[in-house]
Amino acid sequence: MALDTLTTPAKAVPGPRGLPFVGVGLDFLKDPLGYFDTMVTRYGRVFRLPLGKNSFVFLNDAEHVEQVLRRDFENFGMSEQSEELLRPLLGRSMPVVADHLYWEQLHAMMLPMFTPRMLQQYFGHTLCATQEEVEHLAKHMAGGETISMYEFAREGVFASLIRTLFVRGIDPSEVTTLLEWFGKADEYVNARNLSGASPLIMAIPAVREGKRCLDRIDRRVYELLAFRKANPAETPEDMLDILLSARKADGAALTDVELRDNVVALLFGGQETTPGAITWAFGLLAAHPEKRARMLEEIDRVLEGREPSFQDLAKLEYTEMVLDEAMRLYPAFPFIGRDSLVDTEIGGYPIARGTSLGFVAWTVHRDPRHWPEPDRFIPERHTREEKKTRAKCAYLSFGYGQRRCIGERVGRMEALLMLTMISQRFLLDHAGGRLPDHKVQMSIKPVDGMPMRVRARNQAPDVAPVARPEVVGVP
Ligand code: HEM
Repeated sequence: MALDTLTTPAKAVPGPRGLPFVGVGLDFLKDPLGYFDTMVTRYGRVFRLPLGKNSFVFLNDAEHVEQVLRRDFENFGMSEQSEELLRPLLGRSMPVVADHLYWEQLHAMMLPMFTPRMLQQYFGHTLCATQEEVEHLAKHMAGGETISMYEFAREGVFASLIRTLFVRGIDPSEVTTLLEWFGKADEYVNARNLSGASPLIMAIPAVREGKRCLDRIDRRVYELLAFRKANPAETPEDMLDILLSARKADGAALTDVELRDNVVALLFGGQETTPGAITWAFGLLAAHPEKRARMLEEIDRVLEGREPSFQDLAKLEYTEMVLDEAMRLYPAFPFIGRDSLVDTEIGGYPIARGTSLGFVAWTVHRDPRHWPEPDRFIPERHTREEKKTRAKCAYLSFGYGQRRCIGERVGRMEALLMLTMISQRFLLDHAGGRLPDHKVQMSIKPVDGMPMRVRARNQAPDVAPVARPEVVGVP
């Protein structure tokens, strides 16, 4: 008997069939994260979804994600579709570039941005920007205003990023304008992605304004590059100094277009992620006063009322655990794409060359095998010992493997400084009495920006606290 008649044919990846042309796109777009949860229950941790004219295989098991991100890294590239969709904003910059060899060059050029010496420099700038944010908060409190936590965090993070990227050539007063341009440009990129650049959608006034803002960002970045090339630093002071002095394998410097793409990508990478982490952390703390009390006790004990130093950050262990747990429940990027470069197999299913894959941090972070009582906010699960023993890809907030987030330490520093310095003086409570619902718009954001009230640490809440806050998804 021939051997091939004895082997069982490999089973196809399961999943819903969907409608012609749209697939399951309509249901998926209504609530992508809830849809993933339902699919895991129905089909298991590997499933295929037809979305529009494409079909994607989604991976929801830490073991399978590890195969893609680390063990068989060479067999999987960045998604060419995402690269194409994000090109107007991110060009061919490091986070999206699909070509392994080009990425390796960019990665080597960017690594010197994140040495301990540079991180110490960024710490100083971040501290100043955070101090200013804390003063803004004092004014909001004095005026009795409710703040949008997400917008507040975004402003603070962007101000820090601007200073770490461009110490010279840009005025901190430009932050508000740049932030507005980025917000509108994001809308343009979103609309372009969702509509496949339909001329009808591209003609909408808000979308055209977004495109104009993107052009303004480009002009400002090119002006800045010209200024900085004419006024080089003796020793690198910020991220742009490192990029300007970086050389490729053949000794060539980055072109202006490459510099622009990577500068915008660093701004985008930082402002689309850290604000969410800060927002959800404050939101979850407000809904869990006992965890907040534990964090405040640590901050007061370690800092004894003074400003944090660079070295102090490593001592704020529980505060960092709060941040980790907020990012577990609300990872900035709920799913991330890759393409299979070879015919292969994942979880017993055949994966053909060219298949679009997505690894879903949202469901991996709720896998009860790694996270008992996965919907509960339990910072205590992120002790240093637990981190060492848990499955490698059970926690994906910063990705994993070779293409793990290169800016993680900067993001963590900004978030920790905000959490610590705000909590030294203020308490933030939900204006709506509960943690808001979430939406996916590039990253996971609160639907309403998360309105919060600010009060001094020693001041009683001005509304009767809700005895057991109703917290959606987080009992
Ligand atoms: C809480 C904050 C942050 C989170 C949650 C986050 C998350 C991530 C994730 C998940 C990836 C991997 C994407 C993939 O595998 O395809 C990534 C990559 C990246 N991030 Fe971050 N990030 C954060 C902060 C930052 C900051 C502050 C910067 C810049 C200063 C930055 C710059 C980048 C870059 C350049 C990449 C691409 C790395 C590569 O392709 O090798 N990120 N980030």
